[in-house]
Amino acid sequence: MERIAVYPGSFDPLTNGHLDLIRRGLNVVDRIIVAVAINPSKKHMFTLKDRLEMVQMTIGDNPRVKVDSFNGLLVDYLKKCDTHIVLRGLRAVLDFEYEYQMALMNRRLDRAVETIFMMTGYKWFYISSRIIRDVLVSGGSVEGLVPDVVAKKLEKKFAKKQM
Ligand code: PNS
Repeated sequence: MERIAVYPGSFDPLTNGHLDLIRRGLNVVDRIIVAVAINPSKKHMFTLKDRLEMVQMTIGDNPRVKVDSFNGLLVDYLKKCDTHIVLRGLRAVLDFEYEYQMALMNRRLDRAVETIFMMTGYKWFYISSRIIRDVLVSGGSVEGLVPDVVAKKLEKKFAKKQM
């Protein structure tokens, strides 16, 4: 039986930490669906279109990875994808409480749901989308911290703002 994991997130923007997790996740499951959350109640720096584009450009054509977006409950989206596996990354203890809450809530909403946590690669331990956004708005470089195609897109976006 094919094992499919949904990797949900805001990806605002996609970082090398996310990409590392997708790559390593493929060593554990057969296919990954990277699910970009729409979440209208959350203020994002990048539009859904931009966030999807950044993930899609980075993944390219990989038959084992699908890029999609979802609205509403993750457990409902999992059913739509015909799977019960969620993939999430864990960095420091900082992430633990939030991730634990989400995993338990998802399991309460649907007993079949299992969340697989993978430790973030040590190189990306201190990186988060939030810290990348902070650096970007203050005019700093995020080269080497996000995939190259994403860095190019971000450079363009922020260069335009500064003109
Ligand atoms: O990258 P993020 O912002 O930490 O991702 C959070 C996300 C999108 C995985 C989470 O907010 C989510 O699953 N949202 C969908 C709504 C939902 O199912 N909520 C109940 C479980 S917490």
